[in-house]
Amino acid sequence: MRMVDLIEKKRDGKELLKEEIEFIVQGYTKGDIPDYQMSAWTMAVFFQGMSEEERANLTMAMVESGDQIDLSKIEGVKVDKHSTGGVGDTTTLVLGPLVASVGVPVAKMSGRGLGHTGGTIDKLESVEGFHVEIDNNEFIDLVNKNKIAVIGQSGNLTPADKKLYALRDVTATVNSIPLIASSIMSKKIAAGADAIVLDVKTGSGAFMKTLEDSRELAKAMVRIGNNVGRKTMAVISDMSQPLGFAIGNALEVKEAIDTLKGEGPEDLTELCLTLGSHMVYLANKANTLEEARKFLEEAIENGRALDTMKTFLESQGGDPSVVDDPSKLPQAKYTYELEAREDGFISDMVADEIGTAAMLLGAGRATKDSQIDLAVGLVLNKKIGDEVKRGESIVTIYSNFEQVEEVKDKLYKNIKITPERAEAQRLIYEEIT
Ligand code: URA
Ligand code: CA
Repeated sequence: MRMVDLIEKKRDGKELLKEEIEFIVQGYTKGDIPDYQMSAWTMAVFFQGMSEEERANLTMAMVESGDQIDLSKIEGVKVDKHSTGGVGDTTTLVLGPLVASVGVPVAKMSGRGLGHTGGTIDKLESVEGFHVEIDNNEFIDLVNKNKIAVIGQSGNLTPADKKLYALRDVTATVNSIPLIASSIMSKKIAAGADAIVLDVKTGSGAFMKTLEDSRELAKAMVRIGNNVGRKTMAVISDMSQPLGFAIGNALEVKEAIDTLKGEGPEDLTELCLTLGSHMVYLANKANTLEEARKFLEEAIENGRALDTMKTFLESQGGDPSVVDDPSKLPQAKYTYELEAREDGFISDMVADEIGTAAMLLGAGRATKDSQIDLAVGLVLNKKIGDEVKRGESIVTIYSNFEQVEEVKDKLYKNIKITPERAEAQRLIYEEIT
């Protein structure tokens, strides 16, 4: 087989065979196929697209390019949740303990990553003593015992995707639905998921800004999952304003604890119940979605979800007493209020810009080596549709810097107040199975 022939075949809009896709992925991973040929091929895919079968074959070829996590010693259906990313998305911290408390095994491999805040691991490390450096056997034992554990990323998962994503980034080929969908799905499958619930975000703070694009990506991923034998479904949810109130690491841990107590923000709670119901259902722990939701609501009401959070933190060295006393989490030195400069209604809160404001405070990493300040961030006191009076606080800023003028400017620029009441944002647009 010659790469040049496969580039030509895709350029002309023909469908590649399984062996041909495997040849490309293996050859590129090993370094036999050079970047310039791979670039030409990804550009051909960008314009010509890929059939359903090609997408499934590309996904599995990337899965097989590296290590795969074996979760077979964990009892039950391992359901993973994946979010396409947003601002102040506290769902993972809530969903883990929540679905674990009704018997769904949560075996989470997680990273740190770049972004407005840290990743799930950074957030959890704001609990004194908590660590994710556990070995594989301990990880599996913990999931069997407590139904939940988190381990740091290890092993060489989907090296083909790593190399390909970096290439796409500099060749204007990131934005291709078949390539994005197979990239995301390959990572979930290599991490050992039997079933996958996808939270595809839409809006200004999302990777996909429009509903049409989000729908297309969601459908593509659901098809891939189901075609390769992993039950997969997707929820399309709003990310035109940040989710919940808190954006920051320790602040989001507190928000997650509040939500597990039944005292969390309405949107975060609703999204967690929706995604969680699908996870419980796919794990065969309920006969219907309605029953699944009832189990989750009960676990919040009777305290089991919160107890699971405590056990989870304690089992990985964390201080479980933060659950009853969140003031033990890292605290910022200063707080400031962003006061409304006029009366009216909040009509817009541009999610990604508000995320950037949190990052300016030090809540996230700008580069791989930057240090995160776990204590800092933002708490929204208002959301779209809410009424405000002049002088009332829209956002509380938690900072370790004395000067926050730049942050305030950014927030004022990206939070709009209008005289008429704006429509409250819809939270969940569609569910795709
Ligand atoms: N996120 C991924 O993991 N892969 C893509 O291709 C795009 C976004
Ligand atoms: Ca939040």
